[in-house]
Amino acid sequence: MAHATSIEIKEFDTIIVGSGLAGLTAAYHASKNGNVAIITKSQLDISNSYYAQGGIAAVTAPEDSFESHIQDTMVAGRELCDRDAVEILVSEGQKCVQELISLGMEFDKENGEFVLGLEGGHTHRRILHAGGDATGKGLTCFMLKKVQEQKNIQVFEYTTVVELLVEGQLCVGVQAFDFVTGNNVIFKSKATIIATGGLSRIYDRSTNPHTATGDGIALAYHAGAKLSDIEFIQFHPSALYIPGEEAFLISEAVRGEGAWLLNQEGERFMQHIHPLAELAPRDVVAYAIYNQLQLHHADFVYLSLKHLNPESIKKRFSTIYNTLLKYHIDFTSDLLPISPAAHYMVGGIQTDLHGETNIAGLFACGEVASTGVMGANRLASNSLLECLVFGKRAAEKATQRKSTGVTLPEINDIRVDTGNENLFLETKNRIATLMSKKAGIVRSEEKLGEAIAELNSIKKQLPEIINEYNLLKIKHIVDICTLICESALIRKESRGGHIREDFQKENPELCAHLIQQKGHPYKFEEVRK
Ligand code: SIN
Repeated sequence: MAHATSIEIKEFDTIIVGSGLAGLTAAYHASKNGNVAIITKSQLDISNSYYAQGGIAAVTAPEDSFESHIQDTMVAGRELCDRDAVEILVSEGQKCVQELISLGMEFDKENGEFVLGLEGGHTHRRILHAGGDATGKGLTCFMLKKVQEQKNIQVFEYTTVVELLVEGQLCVGVQAFDFVTGNNVIFKSKATIIATGGLSRIYDRSTNPHTATGDGIALAYHAGAKLSDIEFIQFHPSALYIPGEEAFLISEAVRGEGAWLLNQEGERFMQHIHPLAELAPRDVVAYAIYNQLQLHHADFVYLSLKHLNPESIKKRFSTIYNTLLKYHIDFTSDLLPISPAAHYMVGGIQTDLHGETNIAGLFACGEVASTGVMGANRLASNSLLECLVFGKRAAEKATQRKSTGVTLPEINDIRVDTGNENLFLETKNRIATLMSKKAGIVRSEEKLGEAIAELNSIKKQLPEIINEYNLLKIKHIVDICTLICESALIRKESRGGHIREDFQKENPELCAHLIQQKGHPYKFEEVRK
């Protein structure tokens, strides 16, 4: 053990952990009222947001309305959305988008009008995009530039947070490890905002960057933060399927432009399942594909664009088109093999409407947070919007916090033993296979029980006190996967992104948020209707 005073201490008004769109947005707004540190475990420009293709949902068309966007969000969320949070998302979302545009952000236009895309679950064209299918890149690069222009934002790359420092019920900063110097560093702050993104890399097939393993949510859980609804994992219906290759995302916007899903017999199957056919909410489409794969003992279905205008597809989806050419696939004329892949953590660290958690001084925004807007299944392209709205809200509340003057807790120095790197990778892959088989799109009591037993046995092999980074990462993944399996076991129903083969219907009695908190029994909390 080392006392906090024996290692370097840096002090900021606000600390942001993570550098996706939520983190950058929070940093930009927090910098209006104090100095800010952004801590990111890799480079500033590596995040889930960067890879978002579809776009950002916002009401801009005259024939569209707030109520319609609110309804679409609530319908997709299967009665688990908090209405007040959704109203804020939609109404403030429009303002945030206008604010971005006034700062210089350019969304795609034709003849002076926004080109609006359509995606699953939306009843109006309302998805703004930039650079065709490179919206995430466009938005994060734009916000990155804004952040870099602010003199009072300092960025710490290749620095990972290993613990949130909580004294009593107050978060006073974080302990971090700097990979470049090999030093432990304490960042002291009035407020800490977690914006570390999701965890979909805990599954075999995922559209997320390799860094998305849920460390932010594990840190918050161990600090005593409440987690909400983490059994809901969104599987994106259409990710490229080529054995041995990454599950490259094929944006839902491609189906929005009319692409069809075909089974192994070459037949469309979605029209028989949902009135919106290929544009049904994501949970419905992913489950329908899962059923087709079982029925035909296949690993993939097809996406077909053969009936669409090739030139407009190439223009609108140039990133996807060019990436697929590397695999010798021209998706305007070839059938494209796709299957679902883990894409988004729907639940997360529970926050109020200002991004604050149950721990004073600790905030969360973006995918890692559960603000109440996503319900049991996120509506497509609402995530970038949530980053803007709740990133700003969290920053505004966080910067109102006053200095506490508390003493820092004792810390446990972390070191890196490269000899444990292989163990980490092997264990991570073993867990990803386990989660995909036992806690994937379709779950059951039996499968979840088996997953928990295996996770427990992995955990037993870990030392009680961990001061090595690779072992700590294993522990975090094991803990988070166990929590997901436990909540999936408790939720004895099928709803949104959580499907149980042994409880195939929604149970109205379980129309509530499932809360987990370290040292407390789980509980259900009412949805704000
Ligand atoms: C997509 O383009 O299909 C993904 C966008 C999102 O996850 O909302």
